Amino acid sequence: SNLHPTIFVIFGGTGDLNKRKLAPALYNLYTEGYMPEKYSIIGTGRTSFTDKKYQEEILNSVNQFSRNGKVKKEQWAEFEPNVHYCSVDISEEKTFENLKKEIEKYQKEFEEKTQVVFYLAVAPNFFPLIAECLKKYKLTEDEDNCRIVIEKPFGHDLETAKELNQLLSRIFTEKQIYRIDHYLGKETVQNMMAFRFANSLFEPLWNRNHIEHVQISVTEQLGVGDRGGYYEGAGALRDMIQNHLLQLLCLVGMETPINYDADEIRHRKVEVLKAMRPFKPEEISTNAVRGQYSKGWVEGKEVPSYRTEKGVDKNSNTETFAAVKFFIDNWRWQGVPFYLRTGKRLNQTSSIITIQFKDVPHHIFSAGATETWTQNRLIISIQPEMSIRLQVQAKRPGLKMVLNPVDMVFDYKGTYDTDTPEAYETLLLDVMNGDQTLFMRGDQVEAAWELVMPIINTWESKKSLNFPNYPADSWGPEEAEALIARDGFHWFTLPLKDKE
Ligand code: BG6
Repeated sequence: SNLHPTIFVIFGGTGDLNKRKLAPALYNLYTEGYMPEKYSIIGTGRTSFTDKKYQEEILNSVNQFSRNGKVKKEQWAEFEPNVHYCSVDISEEKTFENLKKEIEKYQKEFEEKTQVVFYLAVAPNFFPLIAECLKKYKLTEDEDNCRIVIEKPFGHDLETAKELNQLLSRIFTEKQIYRIDHYLGKETVQNMMAFRFANSLFEPLWNRNHIEHVQISVTEQLGVGDRGGYYEGAGALRDMIQNHLLQLLCLVGMETPINYDADEIRHRKVEVLKAMRPFKPEEISTNAVRGQYSKGWVEGKEVPSYRTEKGVDKNSNTETFAAVKFFIDNWRWQGVPFYLRTGKRLNQTSSIITIQFKDVPHHIFSAGATETWTQNRLIISIQPEMSIRLQVQAKRPGLKMVLNPVDMVFDYKGTYDTDTPEAYETLLLDVMNGDQTLFMRGDQVEAAWELVMPIINTWESKKSLNFPNYPADSWGPEEAEALIARDGFHWFTLPLKDKE
């Protein structure tokens, strides 16, 4: 690839994110020919490692977590010499000197203009320290060639999100900051923009005149696992709705951008967030539902309740499920409800967006012909099935006029025989290319916090009296059904063909 030489510095180089996601993604980018000709990956951490030992660690991670399975020997042999380790103790400023030396070494070796990417794969309480040290050691000054990548949580609430943005903007320009929302790197999520803005068919229908309601449902079978310590201070609203689900909502709701420039796209998305109807405190109990899982059975195994997970308070008030009804107050969407739900330990792992169109204005078929009548729906399935389905009514074959909903399907598996890249491959390549389209801008993050804060504040101030309120392997609390049923709808799910 014709990218500039790149030095990739990973803080948290021995951590979980690097093992599971970053190292396999960088390796796959290399095997597919997307890495620059000259590059160096420097893992950092407190532990001391030789390069050789660290390379072994990375090899294990790639073997274990890459979507392509085990590495090929010859390919690994070419990749390996680019992997290095530099021990940096974040709480000991002096150790940044080692890092500076290491970076300068490769800058000299690569000669041409070298890009330096700092990836902060560490807990957010380390962000300020790292950022300050990078500045102090003059590692961030080349605006065009130095970038910083951070992972959520971007703050714990609106106030801390603003503080983080202020801190970052003292040291970096917005062009240097890459805030990752990994949902935006998913193939099917990127396709939303292609689908909406590269076809003339849907846009005329994409508004309140034709769309009755929208559902965005991201359900997971897993519980919190060993992330209880983090999750206990977060909950479903902070962990998923504030970022991933609202970003999906923005993609459904945004106006047509005039081009595919990063800032143009991000303007259009932030507009949606700004147009969203703020919650009045008295509406929260009707329009937002929270849940917490109790113990139960998943595929023949007993699983613990949230309150007995490691790192979780035994009287925890943290929600592991949230369902919220939103409105977007603008011409396009006035009066169209957007129902969002997400939760852990639910019956299915699947992420789908359902757009339900209004019913036909007048029914001409008899009741007998229309027993299975369903309004037209567009179903965008993000995972595990990757597909777009348009549900339409059709005549069932036979001598009688009987109607049946059928799906017109675009299925990735049936259409393409190539594998889809992992979100992190797409996003890391974008960072190297300097393309911020799929990254969160500071104002987006703040607008999303502003929207959810009233719900968070209410939930935190009022302890839930009925937690836990849904068993593992269910669809969440009954109130979530009631939330949507009151409006005459129900949560839509796709039957899973094969679990992934
Ligand atoms: C993360 C959340 O951002 O997204 C996790 O912190 C969640 O709690 C995960 O499990 C879901 O991502 P995916 O890609 O598995 O749907």
